[in-house]
Amino acid sequence: MKIHFKDLTNEQFLKHYWQKQPLLIKGAFKQFVDPIEADELAGLAMEDFIESRIVSKSNTAWDVKHGPFEDFSEFGESDWTLLVQAVNHWFKGVDDLIEPFRFIPNWRIDDVMVSFSTPGGGVGPHLDQYDVFIIQGSGKRRWRVGAPDASLEQLLPHEDLKQVSEFTSIIDEITEPGDLLYIPPNHPHDGIAIDNSINYSIGFLAPSSQELLSGLADYNLDNNLNAERIDDSLRQATDTPEQLSSVDLDLLTNTLKKSLSDPDVISDFLGKYLTTVHHTLNLLIPVEPLTIDFIKEILSDGEQLNPVLGLKCILHSSQHNSDSLDNKNNRLFVNGEVFEVANESILFAKLLASKQTLSINELKTHLNCLKNQQLLTNVINKGLWSFE
Ligand code: SIN
Ligand code: CO
Repeated sequence: MKIHFKDLTNEQFLKHYWQKQPLLIKGAFKQFVDPIEADELAGLAMEDFIESRIVSKSNTAWDVKHGPFEDFSEFGESDWTLLVQAVNHWFKGVDDLIEPFRFIPNWRIDDVMVSFSTPGGGVGPHLDQYDVFIIQGSGKRRWRVGAPDASLEQLLPHEDLKQVSEFTSIIDEITEPGDLLYIPPNHPHDGIAIDNSINYSIGFLAPSSQELLSGLADYNLDNNLNAERIDDSLRQATDTPEQLSSVDLDLLTNTLKKSLSDPDVISDFLGKYLTTVHHTLNLLIPVEPLTIDFIKEILSDGEQLNPVLGLKCILHSSQHNSDSLDNKNNRLFVNGEVFEVANESILFAKLLASKQTLSINELKTHLNCLKNQQLLTNVINKGLWSFE
């Protein structure tokens, strides 16, 4: 599937719209076919490992119910929306919706949320911190999007539902199957279904410095790093003990800066932090660890190798030259785990990290190499890739 950006290239999209202004592309996907049916979505929302909610409205009163749901009949025929997070972890066709957006790196992607709305259904006018691409599947919806506006009032019509007051639209259109709406963070928006409507929200959440620092603090604790106390053995007597002197301020600031100064530590932390997936993954950990000989047997049965849906991977390679002996910085990060990658395995690791299904023939060309065999065995035994 490819986005028909019309005259816009990916680069122009990034330059003019990404994080700047909303954009609606009518007919972005030709002959769009829903990769999931409404009843399959409802089935997912019945599972306790799935995050789902139903937002409904009756006159002016809003209600929010959280899944898992047993029955949907109480909600009637109109004025409600079922929203299910990380549907891409369970439906390959939904995960494939991310492919046209791969011009944005893996680590920026959050998940694909799918909503099913009955006529009149929506979550009301609100802001998100996400960049989101919303694909209109079956049905129609009226979408309005405004510009950031500090004068908007924050509303809380229900304790689990943040909304904003009425905003001025810069986009006000009816979306039809295959249309694509891009909404940058903090732009007020509101989508009201016209008929039964399925929407796919491909969400991108940029980490904040607060989150990164808190993640790094956890990483330091887990790895017992930067635990040394500051050394002020050169202290001079002070006659202003009530002050934090500029010398002490520098000492403390430099201690903080030092904890950010080792590039190996920071890249290890970021690789693990940014590939950690926050919704349940369908990990397929073998009951008994598989050996490479067993894997070779499976290969002769002609099976394919599939990544777990929703995996996030980052390949950190210091060089792409397989002749180089220095492989210390080649690492494959997958769902918060790190795998050392030998230089001769970089191409194979890149293939794994591209997250495509690998055919037996593709695999076979790489499995003459012992390091590739070891890497494959490791990722399979962690349940991250599996044969089918
Ligand atoms: C949706 O209802 O499909 C999307 C909700 C949103 O705007 O975040
Ligand atoms: Co939203």
